[in-house]
Amino acid sequence: MKPELSALVEEARTALQGAANEDAVDQVRVAFLGKKGKLSQLLKGVAQLPAAEKPAAGKLVNEAKGELEDLLARAQAAAKLRRDQAALQERLDVTAPGRRHVRGHVHPIRETTDTILRIFGQLGYRAVTGPEIEHEFYNFEALNIPRDHPARDMQDTFYLTDDVVLRTHTSPLQIRTMLEVKKPPVKVVCPGAVYRSDSDATHSPMFHQVEGLFVDEEVSMADLKGTLLAFARKLFGPEVRIRLRPSFFPFTEPSCEVDISCVTCGATGRSDVEGGPCRVCKGTTWLEVAGAGLVHPNVFKAVGYDTEKVTGFAFGFGVERLAMLRYRIPDLRLFFENDVRFLRQF
Ligand code: PHE
Repeated sequence: MKPELSALVEEARTALQGAANEDAVDQVRVAFLGKKGKLSQLLKGVAQLPAAEKPAAGKLVNEAKGELEDLLARAQAAAKLRRDQAALQERLDVTAPGRRHVRGHVHPIRETTDTILRIFGQLGYRAVTGPEIEHEFYNFEALNIPRDHPARDMQDTFYLTDDVVLRTHTSPLQIRTMLEVKKPPVKVVCPGAVYRSDSDATHSPMFHQVEGLFVDEEVSMADLKGTLLAFARKLFGPEVRIRLRPSFFPFTEPSCEVDISCVTCGATGRSDVEGGPCRVCKGTTWLEVAGAGLVHPNVFKAVGYDTEKVTGFAFGFGVERLAMLRYRIPDLRLFFENDVRFLRQF
């Protein structure tokens, strides 16, 4: 009996070596340990032995069975491990080049707006925002922009209804803020998108402004100029100069345009590459960046401020203009095309 059992175990061992997967291992199990398997056949032989030999033979068969079970269990485990490793390799090719995560970043217009707000924050200005869909009272009426003013024309302004518009500037925030604060001092900067019916290389139907408003007693043009100069130096460096040119806005008196000395040519007016006039300032050495002035008494009246007591200044910067100068960008429309090849450069 013993040699037969040993031969059986060896046979099983060989069969398992050729078993490629868990199914094949199971087939070996059935062939040897199954009801009609080879071991069962041998057990039948034991039944036919004389009674005296049965116990010893039975013991041998049980030992062989144990050995077979052991072999099968190990083969099964090995087959499973091979399968797991194959599955892993299919999903995880450790030799493949890594995939980079593309990290986004802040849009240059937002970055410039944040920088402007940070600088004015250091000067004590608090930031406030307001609606882009605005009532004509805030956008025009309270700002002393009369009914027949060209800014109100359909050509220049997007109307939603007869008296609701897409705000054409951030100046309505002056009105909203003063109506809310009720009593000066007021010191705010107001960032946001504004809309005008306008479109070319330097005009977009939507662009951004930062409005500034300072109202207190005895506020003068000198305060305005000092504030604007301090701001320009923080944004463009200590060498930059500013210039106020007389202008007109219905909501300020006196009014001015604010120029800074050209930061592209260093106020030489010349292009150092081509030798000709600077392309950005067109040889003038100055760049217009804002409108400003002292708050018009009619604006104070509209919000119920005492025109005998309070004075103030206001200014409005074009954010795109400042961003174009900071990053040397020639065309305003690039900001809004959302071409990642452009945006990635910042
Ligand atoms: N609101 C003006 C504009 O959009 C700019 C401005 C703001 C002028 C504040 C004076 C004072 O052109």
